[in-house]
Amino acid sequence: MLEKIEQLKAEIAAAEAQNEAAVEELRIKYLSKKGAISLLMNDFRTVAPELKRELGQKLNELKTFATERINTLKTQAAEQAAGAAADALDLTRTPAPMPIGTRHPLNIVRQEIIDIFSRMGFSIAEGPEIEDDWHVFSSLNFAADHPARDMQDTFFLSRDPEQGDVLLRTHTSSVQTRVMEHAQPPIRIICPGRVYRNEAISARAHCFFHQVEALYVAENVSFADLKQALLFFAREMFGPETQIRLRPSYFPFTEPSAEMDISCNICGGKGCAFCKQTGWVEILGCGMVDPNVLDACGIDSKKYTGYALGMGIERITNLKYRVKDLRMFSENDVRFLREFTSAAK
Ligand code: DAH
Repeated sequence: MLEKIEQLKAEIAAAEAQNEAAVEELRIKYLSKKGAISLLMNDFRTVAPELKRELGQKLNELKTFATERINTLKTQAAEQAAGAAADALDLTRTPAPMPIGTRHPLNIVRQEIIDIFSRMGFSIAEGPEIEDDWHVFSSLNFAADHPARDMQDTFFLSRDPEQGDVLLRTHTSSVQTRVMEHAQPPIRIICPGRVYRNEAISARAHCFFHQVEALYVAENVSFADLKQALLFFAREMFGPETQIRLRPSYFPFTEPSAEMDISCNICGGKGCAFCKQTGWVEILGCGMVDPNVLDACGIDSKKYTGYALGMGIERITNLKYRVKDLRMFSENDVRFLREFTSAAK
């Protein structure tokens, strides 16, 4: 038996295994219930009593030796397998292309408008979307019974005659007040932002949309200055051939007020279905800031004058990219958004 023990020990010491399955085979061969060492244990029962002590010790040593050896082989095989997996990783391979998002068309146009006005020296001002009556209406010379104050046009968050109404701004003109309350002329700001109106959603109207407001207040600002800024903007935005036309209009916060048309950029002014055969399309409202507004905001209307203008970003985007249905802008359909990949700078 002693011989057999020595032989098994030598065998196990020399055993090698290429992988974890081979290690398992060795374990079964030596250490399982029917393995070589267990069989020896069975034979041990028949050994003469005077030999039992020595042989029992040797047998136990063999079992411990085999267990340790097989554990070592198992660890080696696992390390080898991990190494092989790491070798299979090719770091020089070109990666799978990552889908890159595109800029939203409204953001592209918003940025373009901002760029044009910043070339004329305007800087960006922003204000809150949740506003009060003063900033959206009263300071801007809206009469108490003006229809824009109606529930049908304005989303009110709370109505309280003592605390004042809290509402979602219906136009970015509220930012004019916010800036003029805290600054003295010269003021030259452009205010992009989202506005809300209580409208049923359709292809032509939405309950929220985006505007850009511009305001210039200083000494001796005239209507001619306004007209020059408008012409510059129209030609930068729609091309150097673009003509502009001003039509008298009314806004509570400007006097005189006008609406600006540009020559239709589809037919070049000849008349087509888009401009309803008129050759002109309306793009914005503007005017000289009403002296009441300047005074309400703490600016001396005897010393300073100013012009203001406001436009819808959706409208400009529609003219540039022919997006016929306003709902497309907020549906997040990637097929629509992907069309603007090349327009984003
Ligand atoms: N606030 C107006 C609107 O929402 C747009 C507008 C018109 C803004 C004339 C102006 C302006 O600053 O002068 O319809």
